[in-house]
Amino acid sequence: MHPPAPDAPILFFDSGLGGLTVLGPTRALLPTAPIVYAADYAGLPYGRKSDDELAARVPALLGRLVERYQPRLAVIACNTASTIALGHVRAALDLPIVGTVPAIKPAAAMTRTGVIGVLGTEATVRQPYVDDLSARFAGDRTVLRHGSPGLVTGAEAKLRGEAVDPEVIVRAVAGLREQPRGEALDVVVLACTHFPLLKTELQAGFGPDVALIDGAEGIARRIAHLTAGQAWPDIAAPGVAVFTRGDDRQPPPISALLPYGIASIETI
Ligand code: DGL
Repeated sequence: MHPPAPDAPILFFDSGLGGLTVLGPTRALLPTAPIVYAADYAGLPYGRKSDDELAARVPALLGRLVERYQPRLAVIACNTASTIALGHVRAALDLPIVGTVPAIKPAAAMTRTGVIGVLGTEATVRQPYVDDLSARFAGDRTVLRHGSPGLVTGAEAKLRGEAVDPEVIVRAVAGLREQPRGEALDVVVLACTHFPLLKTELQAGFGPDVALIDGAEGIARRIAHLTAGQAWPDIAAPGVAVFTRGDDRQPPPISALLPYGIASIETI
């Protein structure tokens, strides 16, 4: 394979704006990397879709995006899509694909009480992939899981500058705390890329004795590692966001994306 041209972008993919939490730390490591950020607004929320639907939808859409933008690497910046469709995407596309999986391993190493929580979408928390991670890395821990679609809506609202319904935070916290042994929780994995957008609210909800962790920094390091030695532009070009067109959802104002280096919006 030829080395990628300096202007070949990194493609970030999520159902919505959550993948920006992975883009942020990646830009810190690779400040001039050209960026295409794709959000499948026509499919949001993924957490409420069936596994079969996502296993078909995600590789097909990524295939279209790869053809259109010719990225050097694609990042599935979505736990739901990664835990269900990573294998299908890798089988279908001929470029490096980085996935996003729940940070259960570091959480299991960090807990002192032996009780960790996994907060994700409903689809992610029911995945065998999560059973597997729990068995491999947290076999001697108690792993509580809770699926919260409300946090996805809340994160989308916050990024648009709209109010977050406080009930959404209360329900997410109670969803873990009210399970057997929930009172002993001391680490919560934010297993959906939308949720770090609500970290302040969630930290207030769980209290100071609970650590909230996500995998974004590790994913950024993985992207930097996989692209080490490749050529980049000398100066950062403005990034592009592309949204699939849904019936009732408009792209956010560009001011929400500018802090992530994105200066234009396309719809497909
Ligand atoms: N950001 C996504 C994730 O990491 C999913 C949000 C959704 O579409 O439900 O799981």
